[in-house]
Amino acid sequence: MTEPSAYGSAGVGFIDGEYSPMAELRLPVTDMGFQLSDMCYDAVHVRNGAFFRLEDHLDRWERSLAARRYDTLGHGRDAVAEVLHRCVARAGLRDAMVTFIATRGTPASGHKDLRSCKNRLIAWALPYYGIVPDEELERGCDIIVAQTIRIPSEAVDPTVKNFGRLDFVRAVFEAYDRDARYAVLLDRDGLVAEGRGWNIFALTGGVLVSPDAGALEGITRKTVYELSERLNIEARAGRITATDLRAADEVFLTSTAGGIMPVRRVDDTAIGNGEPGPVTLRLKDMYWDLHDDPAYATPVNYDLAEA
Ligand SMILES: Cc1ncc(COP(=O)(O)O)c(C=O)c1O
Repeated sequence: MTEPSAYGSAGVGFIDGEYSPMAELRLPVTDMGFQLSDMCYDAVHVRNGAFFRLEDHLDRWERSLAARRYDTLGHGRDAVAEVLHRCVARAGLRDAMVTFIATRGTPASGHKDLRSCKNRLIAWALPYYGIVPDEELERGCDIIVAQTIRIPSEAVDPTVKNFGRLDFVRAVFEAYDRDARYAVLLDRDGLVAEGRGWNIFALTGGVLVSPDAGALEGITRKTVYELSERLNIEARAGRITATDLRAADEVFLTSTAGGIMPVRRVDDTAIGNGEPGPVTLRLKDMYWDLHDDPAYATPVNYDLAEA
């Protein structure tokens, strides 16, 4: 994996039916997506010219649209998929992060009746990037347990992928203040939830657990459940406290942007012997190998580059 280029400097975007270089993509500030974070999104990656688990991402996208009460944005499932293909094809990328967003749109008048908005589809394809730099992927990253709690699920449904993320922002600044870059958030009952852009797993006594509430149903997390089954390792959603996390034999993060990312320390506690553990490394290898399996890959239609 290479270091990302300046965010948004390369790639191709789509808004209001038009494609443009990513650097020129603009959202009207009257869109409630900007003013209220009234939006949802999904992010899928392309590796070696093929989308990974595209149908799973589109399933989650459709669930999010319904939960947020957006209309079809003039683009049904197939049409959305076509926009994604076109963004990647026009950008000429073989390895990409592809983001697609629904916003509420601009209301008809200053009364801002949300029912009067025309929902908007935005998409873009950027060169692939991971959340953590290569060296941390190798040696493991250091995370803190934030004091800031995750926004309660009763207020904002965490299974709808969205950019309403001021809890993550506050938690990440806590991490910076403690010489770290990543923060995991607890819920108000003290149970581990997730971090900005990732799910978390703890391996304890041979059992892998990821939080069963307060977190996105990550596609990478789903892949980990499936791969663990192949290894005869029990993996499930459950409850984890901060104390459980610090005492775990192995900890790792999962995201489309980076895959399976080992954790070396939680606060001041080294995890295991302070190096990525064997189960994490095995799963990480299997995860990337899975990209060669046609059952998980949708080849990008590069013929759509010019059409
Ligand atoms: C809050 C949050 N949790 C978890 C994830 C991981 O989900 P996935 O594996 O589908 O990328 C993401 C991805 O961006 C996220 O934003």
